Amino acid sequence: MDSNSHSNSHVLIFPFPVQGHVSCMLKLAELLCLSGLHVTFLNSDIIHRRLLRYTDVVSRFSRYPGFRFETISDGLPPDHPRSGNRVVDIFDSIKMVTKPMFREMLLPGGCLNCGSRPPVSGVIADGIMCFTIDVAKEVGIPVYLFRTVSASCFWAFYCIPKLIESGDLPIKEDDEMDRLLSGVTGMEKYLRLRDLPSFCRASDLSDRGFQVVTSETQETYRANGLILNTFEDLEESALVQIRKHIPNIYAIGPLHAHLKSRLEARMTSPPRSSNSLWEEDRTCMTWLDEQSRKSVIYVSFGSMTMLSREELIEFWYGLVNSRKKFLWVVRPNSVAGDGQNFPAQLLEGTMERGYMVRWAPQEEVLAHPAVGGFLTHSGWNSTLESIVAAVPMICWPYYADQQVNSRLVGEVWKLGFDMKDICDRVVVEKIVKDLMDEKRDELIRPVDRMMKLARRSVVEDGTSYSNLNRLIEDIKTSTK
Ligand code: UDX
Repeated sequence: MDSNSHSNSHVLIFPFPVQGHVSCMLKLAELLCLSGLHVTFLNSDIIHRRLLRYTDVVSRFSRYPGFRFETISDGLPPDHPRSGNRVVDIFDSIKMVTKPMFREMLLPGGCLNCGSRPPVSGVIADGIMCFTIDVAKEVGIPVYLFRTVSASCFWAFYCIPKLIESGDLPIKEDDEMDRLLSGVTGMEKYLRLRDLPSFCRASDLSDRGFQVVTSETQETYRANGLILNTFEDLEESALVQIRKHIPNIYAIGPLHAHLKSRLEARMTSPPRSSNSLWEEDRTCMTWLDEQSRKSVIYVSFGSMTMLSREELIEFWYGLVNSRKKFLWVVRPNSVAGDGQNFPAQLLEGTMERGYMVRWAPQEEVLAHPAVGGFLTHSGWNSTLESIVAAVPMICWPYYADQQVNSRLVGEVWKLGFDMKDICDRVVVEKIVKDLMDEKRDELIRPVDRMMKLARRSVVEDGTSYSNLNRLIEDIKTSTK
């Protein structure tokens, strides 16, 4: 079945409204459209406005006659920052304000079920919004949860009750952060207290972020299946552990590579696609064109990290002192207390070796031949994008799942160096030099190997390719 011959299956996709979740769930939406499913993508009003403003998403999806966008409120006032440690407010407002609206929309006669399209026959909801399970069950349709984090991080979240029981959590003041943990089965040899998801650092178990991820993760078993943006070769051991508790898992990533591969199978040069919530500054591509091969380190801390002014200055000195060229994304309002702008005095003198933008076309940047390294916050999308582009990483995790990802990159997969919890110009300088020159040779082979495994997983007969086909079949057969 292709995108022009529609089945009766109609899937509703409902992401948690932040960049890293919306962009990869849009990729999944497009993959489902390519298989001829009807798809409705439910965005928060605010995210939808930004997508309309900064992307061509509407015209891109107009290729798929079975696709629609719908919008819903996230329940927060327009001027709420929705980033950094305030992201947790979105959980509460969605549960209180958005859930009843979502229920109304999904019930028979609700706006998601009117018009000429078949009624919604299945839901793919963000796995941190388990209230969708109750609503889908009330309507009598299956619900699949999509977690945007790594399988390893999901598994660490899953083990939190066990870590509380064993006394490992909450972390006590005199605890050694470098102590290995035995409570996350399969990860005993390398997971330290320091590498647990950042929410676990809360001294108090009533911390809202900690409570939300713990309880949402424990509810996953109630869904019909769990979709993960990963691939079997990368996270086999975590997937084995999770399957003991949640047997029906679809590992279908890396989604960006998967979509690219399926589009390329249909057309010679698929159009460039962006799901960015900020305006991409494409001048950096021209700048990269002028740089020599593998000479530039790309620096970006994702869509939610907030840097203190001190951290920004340490990174800046470290990068400049490394004498390497760098392309640095400094998102608007991402430096605490700094308002809109990068400090002017730092910019002077940067121009020789560095190029700064507010938001970059990251997938293209990582694929550019001039890029030889990535200083990243270890967000899961960024990690996968770096793996597929075969770019070694320096990890400086900020929060949530990133602490787990960076440990895997540095200690298990050997795809880079983990600089967790350190932000010092001397260390930054040394680690940049190591990555780009001195220790580069030891990274190249694992980086190249993982890139090949990632790419192989998404082509015909690859594991992610087969898992996606199984998901599509399961959605179709569950349609009454
Ligand atoms: C957070 C989590 O840490 C992440 O692991 C989770 O899966 C989603 O929420 P975020 O800070 O958004 O993520 O990081 P990441 O997952 O890496 O996603 C950022 C996305 O923005 C990437 O797809 C990246 O390509 C894109 N990006 C980033 C740009 O397109 N341009 C930029 O300049 C910076």
